[in-house]
Amino acid sequence: MSVAKKQYKRITTKSLVEMKAQGEKISMLTSYDFSMAKIVDGAGIDVILVGDSASNVMAGHETTLPITLDQMIYHAVSVVRAVERALVVVDLPFGSYQSDPKEALRSAIRIMKESGGHAVKLEGGKEIKDSVKRILNAGIPVMGHLGLTPQSIYKFGTYTVRAKEEAEAEKLKTDALMLEKAGCFALVLEKVPAKLAKEVAESLTIPVIGIGAGNGVDGQVLVVHDMIGMTHEFNPRFLRRYLDLYSEMTKAFEQYRDDVKSRNFPSDDEQY
Ligand code: KIV
Repeated sequence: MSVAKKQYKRITTKSLVEMKAQGEKISMLTSYDFSMAKIVDGAGIDVILVGDSASNVMAGHETTLPITLDQMIYHAVSVVRAVERALVVVDLPFGSYQSDPKEALRSAIRIMKESGGHAVKLEGGKEIKDSVKRILNAGIPVMGHLGLTPQSIYKFGTYTVRAKEEAEAEKLKTDALMLEKAGCFALVLEKVPAKLAKEVAESLTIPVIGIGAGNGVDGQVLVVHDMIGMTHEFNPRFLRRYLDLYSEMTKAFEQYRDDVKSRNFPSDDEQY
C-alpha cells in the first residue's frame, strides 16, 4: 500500500498541495465509467480525471471537441458513484466555457451539482482568466491545463511537443503563475520539454501534474485506456504501457468464440 493511501482517507485539493510540500508525488489517471473508476480508486490513485479524452477512447472521435457537457456529466456521475478516496476532477468540454465567464460558471455549476465531482479542469491561460476567477469565486476548485491543450488542436495543427520556442515557453510560465495567483489548486502540463516543466513546477506552490512533461513535476497523469494497453494505435514516447490488454482481450474473445462454436461452453458445471 502506498504512503498516500495510508495517510489520506479521502484526497482533497488541500491534500494535493500538502503532498507537493512534502515531496510526495501525485498519481492521477482518467476514468469514465463505474467499473474502471472502482479499480482505479481501489488501487489508491490520488486523482481521477473524468477527461474529455472520453471523446476519443469511449466514443471513438478523432478529437476531444465533439463531447458535450451532458455527456461529460453522464461519465462523471458513473465515476463519482464508484469512488471512495480519490479526488474526482471533471473536464469542462470544448464549447462549455470559452464564450464568456457566465457560461463557464453555469457549466461548472452543472458539473458540480449534477455529477457530484469535486473540481473542474479548464484548458488555457490568459484567455480564460476571467472564467477561472468566476468559477473560483463560486467556491468551485479549478485545475488548470497548459502546454498541449487538445481542445485547441485545430489552432495548433498537430499534437507535437509545445513550448519548445522561447516565446511560447515564456507565455506558458506567465500563464502558470497567473493560474496559481487566480487560485487554481493544481495544473496539468501536457507535452512540453521536461526542463521547462521542472522550472514551472519549482516556481509554483500548487502541484504540477505532467503528461509527457518529464519527471521534474509533482505528479503524473495518463489516460487509463492507454496505460493498460486497451488502445494500441496511440504510441507517444511518454506513454508507458503497464499491460497489453488489447492482445489479452482479443485472445479471450477469440477463445470464447471458439468455445461457443465448438459447444465447449457452457460445460455441465456451468449450467443449472
Ligand atoms: O482529457 C484528458 O484525458 C486529459 C489528460 C490528458 C490530462 O486532459
